[in-house]
Amino acid sequence: MLENNIMPIYEPGLKELVKKNQDEGRISFTTDLPGAVQKSDVIFIAVGTPSLSNGEADLQYIEAVAREIGQAMNGYKIVVDKSTVPVGTGDRVRKIISESQTGEYGFDVVSAPEFLREGCAVGDTLNPDRIIIGTSSKKAAQIMDELHKPFNAPIVITDVRSAEMIKYASNAFLATKISFINEIANICEKVGADVTEVARGMGYDKRIGNQFLMAGIGYGGSCFPKDTKALIQIAGNADYDFELLKSVIKVNQIQRYKPIKKLISILGELQGRTVGILGLAFKPNTDDMREAPSVEIITELKKLGAGIKAYDPVAGDEARKVIKDIEYCSDPYETMDGADAVILVTEWEEFKNLDLDKMKKLLNIPLVIDGRNVFDPAEMQAKGFIYTGVGRRQIAYLTREYRKEAAAAVEKLTK
Ligand code: UDX
Repeated sequence: MLENNIMPIYEPGLKELVKKNQDEGRISFTTDLPGAVQKSDVIFIAVGTPSLSNGEADLQYIEAVAREIGQAMNGYKIVVDKSTVPVGTGDRVRKIISESQTGEYGFDVVSAPEFLREGCAVGDTLNPDRIIIGTSSKKAAQIMDELHKPFNAPIVITDVRSAEMIKYASNAFLATKISFINEIANICEKVGADVTEVARGMGYDKRIGNQFLMAGIGYGGSCFPKDTKALIQIAGNADYDFELLKSVIKVNQIQRYKPIKKLISILGELQGRTVGILGLAFKPNTDDMREAPSVEIITELKKLGAGIKAYDPVAGDEARKVIKDIEYCSDPYETMDGADAVILVTEWEEFKNLDLDKMKKLLNIPLVIDGRNVFDPAEMQAKGFIYTGVGRRQIAYLTREYRKEAAAAVEKLTK
């Protein structure tokens, strides 16, 4: 597929970038691993490290590839691990390569963790905040430094174990930031403050920074859920109880169900209700459904007896593999047509410009649960929607008066 410029994942700009480099003869693809190893000076390992049932990272793919590299070697190589792996894996890779070599070839193992985000992977790769190079070899450090210089980013050269930890610590810290702002949002709803204003005010403090302070229905994806669990395991294996990170995961789990709680507090029983879902992917600009909050939200809504109509601009095909027995729609308006409420789960750009009047006409009850604070509460209120965002001051759903008002409006409309 790659040879024919067919990308197996949806990632903006990737196809064009691969094509350009193919046309200019800088990249080619092969399934001949020994051939590729023998022609290379530097070999990057970028295989998956999914979670085992106990949360630990599954290293079977890393180990298999290390063995194959060892067997194929024909001279000095630098083997770079880009995958997110538990601290100490670099040493394991070194041991496997040594044991599987057929001749005595020199090699160095480097840890250079990946920090790109899905949906903006090309930009993140070409303009990284920093490059981490973990190695005990001066020669490898120098070659890696030279290789990464054109990126014009700070290069941190450190030891292998610290490099491996930097990746987990960074992801765990970002996940903590998200759970923190989500808890602040929950408190904002109770005390009449607005979390978007709070985040704006906090973000100017350089020590805090303005990113990853968007309250919503929690983090998902292939990294944060997996890496937070793995770091708890890494700590546990070293006899350390990572209390703070356990709470981060718990808060994230609870946050996913907030839209359902809000729905019930306004609609009462959900049996027989139709709920529209806008967005299925774990975040915009990707078709990745791994740990997407939509899966748990839809599963729970179905358990409560609701019928589901759902739409995602890109992730429909991937979603069909994991979410069955719902109605997949081909545009947002079809999703809302005749629905008793709509939940915005993923903040795709196209949802930011929806025709509100049309939405209101199509919905059976103009009830909008905005899981990503895409809409302007004042505008939604002015248009006559029953609207709740996450941690917004206006129309704080948790105030008893608002809930009463909303429930009364729903009853009137239902009649
Ligand atoms: C993440 C890391 O950012 C990246 O450095 C690492 O290499 C892989 O894991 P990714 O999972 O692709 O990247 O996406 P990211 O943009 O970090 O978002 C992760 C989740 O957090 C998404 O579900 C997103 O919706 C959520 N999020 C992000 C928030 O809820 N609020 C925010 O402010 C930011």
